[in-house]
Amino acid sequence: MKKTIRNLFLVVIAVAAAACGRPSRPSTIGTTPEVERRVDRLLAQMTLAEKIGQMNQVSAGGAVSNYAESVRSGQVGSILNEVDPVRINEFQRIAVEESRLGIPLLVGRDVIHGFHTVFPIPLGLAASFDPALVEEGARIAALEATAQGVRWTFSPMLDIARDPRWGRIAEGSGEDTWLDARMGEAMVRGYQGTQWDTTAMAACIKHFVGYGAAEGGRDYNSTFLTERQLRNIYLPPFEAAVKAGALTLMTSFNDNDGVPSTGNKFVVKDILRGEWGFDGLVVTDWNSMGEMISHGYGADRREVALQAVRAGVDMDMMTFGFISHLEELVHSGAVREADIDAAVRNILRVKVLLGLFEHPYVDVAAAGAVQYAPEHLDAARRTAEESAVLLKNDGVLPLDASRVRTILVTGPLADAPHDQLGTWAFDGQKEHTVTPLAALRERFPGRVVYVPGLENSRQKRERFDDVVAAARRADVVLAFLGEEAILSGEAHSLADLNLKGSQSELLAALKAAGKPVVATVMAGRPLTIERDLPNCGALLYAFHPGTMGGPALANLIFGDVVPSGKTPVSFLRTVGQAPLYYNHNMTGRPYQGEMLLDDIGPEAGQTSLGNTSYYLDYGAYPLFPFGYGLSYTSFAYSDLALDKASYARDGVVRASFTLSNTGSREGTEVVQAYVRDLVGSITRPVKELKHFERVSLKPGESRQLTVEIPVADLAFWGADGTKKVEPGDFQLWIAGDSASGEPVSFRVE
Ligand code: BGC
Repeated sequence: MKKTIRNLFLVVIAVAAAACGRPSRPSTIGTTPEVERRVDRLLAQMTLAEKIGQMNQVSAGGAVSNYAESVRSGQVGSILNEVDPVRINEFQRIAVEESRLGIPLLVGRDVIHGFHTVFPIPLGLAASFDPALVEEGARIAALEATAQGVRWTFSPMLDIARDPRWGRIAEGSGEDTWLDARMGEAMVRGYQGTQWDTTAMAACIKHFVGYGAAEGGRDYNSTFLTERQLRNIYLPPFEAAVKAGALTLMTSFNDNDGVPSTGNKFVVKDILRGEWGFDGLVVTDWNSMGEMISHGYGADRREVALQAVRAGVDMDMMTFGFISHLEELVHSGAVREADIDAAVRNILRVKVLLGLFEHPYVDVAAAGAVQYAPEHLDAARRTAEESAVLLKNDGVLPLDASRVRTILVTGPLADAPHDQLGTWAFDGQKEHTVTPLAALRERFPGRVVYVPGLENSRQKRERFDDVVAAARRADVVLAFLGEEAILSGEAHSLADLNLKGSQSELLAALKAAGKPVVATVMAGRPLTIERDLPNCGALLYAFHPGTMGGPALANLIFGDVVPSGKTPVSFLRTVGQAPLYYNHNMTGRPYQGEMLLDDIGPEAGQTSLGNTSYYLDYGAYPLFPFGYGLSYTSFAYSDLALDKASYARDGVVRASFTLSNTGSREGTEVVQAYVRDLVGSITRPVKELKHFERVSLKPGESRQLTVEIPVADLAFWGADGTKKVEPGDFQLWIAGDSASGEPVSFRVE
């Protein structure tokens, strides 16, 4: 019944849209005929200059006077980088009360993993495999940011990242398309909320598209993705987020196969608008229109403005290309005014939906009350707990507080309140951060000895006598290592992914002191930590965990909370393996075991090395596969069975299995289902994640579970350039990571 009413509603919208000359398809952002009428009425009153003004976004720069006159004269549609509620109100007052048509501004900001209360970086959020929790965090970010007048965030970043050298791997959900899509939808729902009230913050899915495939992991570099790779790997998270109702989208900096995204009509107009029917707003990345000149794709600002508008871009972030040239381009006939109208409609539609016309101002007095609210800090702590991944444990964890009297805390990240916030923490204040040192001191007064060993992650030191002496006197050593916030994120790519400075030497010295050593790595990417594993009894990996990282890590180390995070990206043994990801295509030489360099005897010349796809010196596998993570308990999978041997293309694969908690602690397992399509019209990935869920079990408890995978989810873009499920044989694994388990087989008819 509900569905019928919804369908009826969509038909009404479609008919109304057709009547206004727009394509007769359902809105992806939930506009209504009434919203459209409002937009049209406004548009009818606008001069060409005022329309182009809406397409201009400027960075506020901390003073209203910088842009007061431009806002008053209708030359600005949106500002970014202003978070002071007083100044935002002043900007809005000028827009609403002093500009001719009183159109409010859309105020944008990079609220990426929290506003004031900072959550783990998105790579950490993904490690939780918990979309509901991620949605809750995004909602909290929206509550805090909108209270200060920010109604648009440039998040979520949906770039698939298969190369940890790329600094921006920190900002996304890692290497997997399915996980990325689920996280993206969750963030869109969280930011935008379920109703258009004053806490709704427009999401901006970015960077469209392929940006994470930057050559060599060097930020801003070229990508060479085929249409099929785009459609099978890079586009699905965007499509999912569009379906989830994302109001806006940002084009990317990279050129793909020679075409910069901001001038790429094929991806913006043909796919995003044409195929997916997106009727939200498309903004450029910061000066990405201007950068098309540096790319050598356009000669000057006029030319790149023309390329961007023709590609289907609605708003220019900081190139000033539209505001400077569009009017003339329309007068000269190079751009049709109808195209300008379409862009302005996309912008106004978002402003109307957000209720900016009714509520342009924020209550300055109330803005402070929601920041760092106790329930926000609590959610940030829970999220940091769920996003930490236990990579090694020889039994030292969890620590028993009653048996460790003196605790040595050491390492450059033990008390780095700014750095544990991670890469995009514009508004998180380090004064509110609780570091591991602070949390441990509070929990164990008088029992914590702090000897940092290294002042920062890059410091080099020959000897660690002071730390080693302290380690000898302690019962346990907690070493907090990793990389500062500044070493990951935009423009911060690295060619060497080992722990920097003398951190590995510090860990080795601590191990030699003979006391149990627990290493915690806080970083923006999966570092190459293989050489460090022998030097610690346990290793906990916390992608920069945010404001409440300290208490979260203390809770994990002392066993109040059992680790449940899983790696959202493969951990490499050495950087030379990059890119290495679990869902690579099947090669003609499937890997069958290896002979490594060390195995080669004197007759190496005659020895067959297996002739498969691997490295002689590092083999074929990563250090830790995608989806991996330990717990303080253990889980066993058994009795995997399918309800049928073959399925119709519109069917649902139902797999039942038993999950048992075989250890002595209650714990949560991230159950993962992977599928392989054995024969396709193109070569297919060895495995693809198609489902995951978190399941909590008591010690000794077993539960029969059923995973349902719609056969439609097995569709892909094949040789004929269409997306469909190809009939044939498949395998299905249900396991605790991407490298475990035995498959069952099924057919699709
Ligand atoms: C980044 C975007 C960001 C924008 C606005 C750019 O440099 O690539 O991700 O949203 O700046 O700050």
